[in-house]
Amino acid sequence: MTHRIEMEGGGVFDVSADEDTLLRGALRAGIGFPHDCSVGGCGNCRFDLVSGEMETLWAEAPGLTERDRRRGKRLACQSRPRGDCVIKVRPADEYRSVVAPRRRAARLVAKTAITPEMSEFVFQAEGQADFVPGQYGLLRPPGVEGVRAYSMSNLPNEAGEWRFVVRRVPGGRGSNALFDAVAIGDEIPLDAPYGHGYFRAAVERDVVCVAGGSGVGPIVSIARAAIAARPARRVLVFEGARTRADLGFEKLIGADLAGVASYVPVLSAEPEGSDWSGARGFVHAALEAGLADRAATCEVYFAGPPPMIEALQELLIMRWTVPVERIHYDRFF
Ligand SMILES: Cc1cc2nc3c(=O)[nH]c(=O)nc-3n(C[C@H](O)[C@H](O)[C@H](O)COP(=O)(O)OP(=O)(O)OC[C@H]3O[C@@H](n4cnc5c(N)ncnc54)[C@H](O)[C@@H]3O)c2cc1C
Ligand code: FES
Repeated sequence: MTHRIEMEGGGVFDVSADEDTLLRGALRAGIGFPHDCSVGGCGNCRFDLVSGEMETLWAEAPGLTERDRRRGKRLACQSRPRGDCVIKVRPADEYRSVVAPRRRAARLVAKTAITPEMSEFVFQAEGQADFVPGQYGLLRPPGVEGVRAYSMSNLPNEAGEWRFVVRRVPGGRGSNALFDAVAIGDEIPLDAPYGHGYFRAAVERDVVCVAGGSGVGPIVSIARAAIAARPARRVLVFEGARTRADLGFEKLIGADLAGVASYVPVLSAEPEGSDWSGARGFVHAALEAGLADRAATCEVYFAGPPPMIEALQELLIMRWTVPVERIHYDRFF
């Protein structure tokens, strides 16, 4: 059974009655529905319900402001159609999925500690692991409301292997459930791939990658893909972490580090008395010092916490006037 969704102003698509959300149904149907995080944080998937019945999954989602709520706005990633509906939204080609997302069961086959707080989770699922480096999947950890977004840290492969670098967030329900309630051999639902912060293989500019914390997962995937696409590009990596023990890039990339033209680790909370002789402070400041005049000639990828993303947007777009189409990122809400 399906529900018919009509977009006021043109366009109709069908959503399966057992679909998780309006957003995911629209993307599966090939619609360029505006979105970003898929988890209620960014507000980019706002739409108006003109007629029909729509269930709200997470009424308090921070992606809606109080003003949005007063005006009756809804989030497509937190809405599920209960019948045929008419909605108001402005789709755009840039939001179309580059690889059609698909739901599957993912079995945990290995878990490796990368830092005291981060581990790489390896899942096995039926069919090939079809995604573009830099994209994310939606995992449903047991016993928590909603799904959680985690970016793939490996490369697409035919063996159906999906890797994610997950940070255990103090007090976080989903990340702690992944660490503590999913044992080797257990299966959990995975819906993937999603996201637009992916590697643009056809662009032959040098590649600059900036990772903050667990943003190192997708950055390793993008760096690997860029190295494989050489010799056209140089790959420069900046990694921000609190202390030396929290750095993950070198461990994750292994022997492929030899293909990275420059790797700059930057520590924001390393004890003053330690023997660390590398960069200190915030990673965007290190980028500013290290890249400056070369920024305009590069394709820039970054992933990590929202404050880091905002600082980099300000630097790259407002101050260095790098064209927005050369900047690709994921905010980890
Ligand atoms: C695009 C993207 C990619 C990401 N990639 C990574 C990654 O590679 N590695 C990594 O460690 N982290 C990543 N994150 C962050 C990750 O998704 C989680 O936010 C983080 O692990 C904290 O989750 P938690 O459940 O532990 O914390 P909590 O505070 O319990 O939950 C926070 C997250 O859950 C959602 N949420 C909370 N309550 C509900 C509810 N009732 N219903 C529905 N949703 C709810 C929030 O929107 C938020 O995403 C990414 C986030 C995004 C948006
Ligand atoms: S995509 Fe729905 S709030 Fe981010």
